[in-house]
Amino acid sequence: MSLATKFGGYTYENPFMNASGVHCMSTDELDEMDNSRAGSFITKSATTSHRAGNPEPRYFSVPLGSINSMGLPNQGIDYYLNYVLDRQKSHPDSSPVFFSVAGMSVEENLNLLKKIQDSDFNGTTELNFSCPNVPGKPQVAYDFEMTQEILSKVFEFFKKPLGVKMPPFFDFAHFDAMANILNQFPLAYVNCINSVGNGLYIDVETETVVIKPKDGFGGLGGEYVKPTALANVRAFYTRLNPSIKIIGTGGIKTGQDAFEHLLCGATMLQVGTELYKEGVSIFERLEKELKEIMEKKGYSTIDDLRGKLNSL
Ligand code: FUM
Repeated sequence: MSLATKFGGYTYENPFMNASGVHCMSTDELDEMDNSRAGSFITKSATTSHRAGNPEPRYFSVPLGSINSMGLPNQGIDYYLNYVLDRQKSHPDSSPVFFSVAGMSVEENLNLLKKIQDSDFNGTTELNFSCPNVPGKPQVAYDFEMTQEILSKVFEFFKKPLGVKMPPFFDFAHFDAMANILNQFPLAYVNCINSVGNGLYIDVETETVVIKPKDGFGGLGGEYVKPTALANVRAFYTRLNPSIKIIGTGGIKTGQDAFEHLLCGATMLQVGTELYKEGVSIFERLEKELKEIMEKKGYSTIDDLRGKLNSL
């Protein structure tokens, strides 16, 4: 029984990672991820300079998941780049990690990626097209022309492995149109999904919203979003060139959730809300639960089940 996962020319011990934004803001958190049972990890989406993000409270755990409007707080690209470059030097034999960036404009995205291209970073970069929480900045991937424009400009100079983090889509016309755009580029992967943007959670006792930014509107994660996440993983797995892998993110709380994402076609799996609730010990539990399900069903590797979802 093995959970070993090949991704971008490397083999990871298992497919589990954090979702960018959770347990990856500081070097202490990144060290904890590195020392956990997770197969790999990703840094918080970086901007050019430090960002304080939105006012607090900006993250709230609710019974079926979470709502957040963090507003991309991060330490700036140099902080995370120095961390991953130091790690490369001190652990030359380790599989490379993932590095997330989220510029506030086309130009900022290009400059962030130029910096990574010019560095010695040997891992995979994730371009975040889907943060729903920056006031006045719509999610990039809901603007199809803008997505195409950015990717066209990026691939003029970016030669390292690159993936994109997508928001959820809800219509076959949008799955088709976005897949047509993504298939034009040599992407390493597409990550489905970021939080379901602009939900609203209410505390009935106080008749009040639960987070401060944007009058309480925020991205939903956790159990609420698993069916939407699975649908997006499946929709893109069945539409994208096989060379573009899928990272499944959204509603992974148990080994069964992980199994479902793999059946839909995911290669790596990211955990957000439940990692926030349980801490890095979750990875040991997920590994154990996924292995138990696979054993019960007679699968000995993930490759045997990936994408094998049946239709009626
Ligand atoms: O608000 C945030 O920092 C969230 C980022 C994201 O969802 O990508």
